Amino acid sequence: MSAPPVLVFDSGIGGLTVLREARVLMPERQFVYIADDAGFPYGDWAEAALSERIVTLFAKLLEKYRPEICIIACNTASTLVLEQLRSHFPDTPFVGTVPAIKPAAERTRSGLVSVLATPGTVRRAYTRDLIQSFASQCHVRLVGAENLAALAESYIRGEVIDTERLRAEIAPCFIEQDSSKTDIIVLACTHYPFLANQFRNIAPWPVDWLDPAEAIAKRARSLAAPLKEASQETDRAMFTSDNPDFAIKRLMSGFGLDLSSIGH
Ligand code: DGL
Repeated sequence: MSAPPVLVFDSGIGGLTVLREARVLMPERQFVYIADDAGFPYGDWAEAALSERIVTLFAKLLEKYRPEICIIACNTASTLVLEQLRSHFPDTPFVGTVPAIKPAAERTRSGLVSVLATPGTVRRAYTRDLIQSFASQCHVRLVGAENLAALAESYIRGEVIDTERLRAEIAPCFIEQDSSKTDIIVLACTHYPFLANQFRNIAPWPVDWLDPAEAIAKRARSLAAPLKEASQETDRAMFTSDNPDFAIKRLMSGFGLDLSSIGH
C-alpha cells in the first residue's frame, strides 16, 4: 500500500512556491496540491465566512485524500483558521504559513521591517500578536497589497505585468526615517515570491526579501515519518472550480502535477 500523501493548500497557485521547496526536502513523498480557486482571492473575504469555507472544504479533503500532513501554504488562511483546523481535525498534523516576522526582527540592522501581505493577513489579530511578541523593538510596517496576488497569478500565466502597478503596490514598504532605511521585507503571501525578481528590479534600494518557503518545508519534513520506500504515485493537483483554464493546465503539467477532478 502506498504511503499517504502530503497535502499542500492555497487559494490559488501561490502555494506552488512552498510545494517546490517541500519537494526538494521530501522527494520520496507524493504531494497533492489543492487550490481553492473558486474562493480566490482570500484577501477580501470576511473572516467568519472564510473560516467556515475552509473548515468545510477540509472535511472533504481529509476524507478523500487521507493525507499524512497538511501544509497550509497560505498566510491569509493560516493566520485565520489554523487553530480551528487543528481542533476540528486533531488526528492530522497541520503546518501553517504565517508572516516571518520573528526571523525578520532577528535579522534587521536598521530596525525598519515591512510585511507585504494581503489585506486579510494585515487585518488579522494573529499578525498583530506576532509583532507584539517578536518585534516590539522594531518599527514594523504592515502593507496590505490589494492586487498583488492577482498580479502574481497573471504573471505566472505568462501575461505581461505593468511595472508601474507593481511599483505602486510595493512603494509603501520602503521607509526612510532618521537616516535609516527599511532593510527587510517579509513576503507574507505565498504568491509574492513569484514576483521577487521584479521586486528586486524596481526596489528604490536593495533589501532582503524574506520568503519562508524553505522553513515551512523543513517543518513539514520534521513531522513526516520515515518511509521504507519512495512513493510511486504521481503528484496531483485539484482546483475547487473544477475548471482550470489552459494556462493553468499547462502550468500544472510544468510542475509535474496531474489534474484531478473534485468528483473523483
Ligand atoms: N497565497 C495567499 C497567501 O499566502 C493569498 C492569496 C489570496 O488569496 O489573496 O496569503
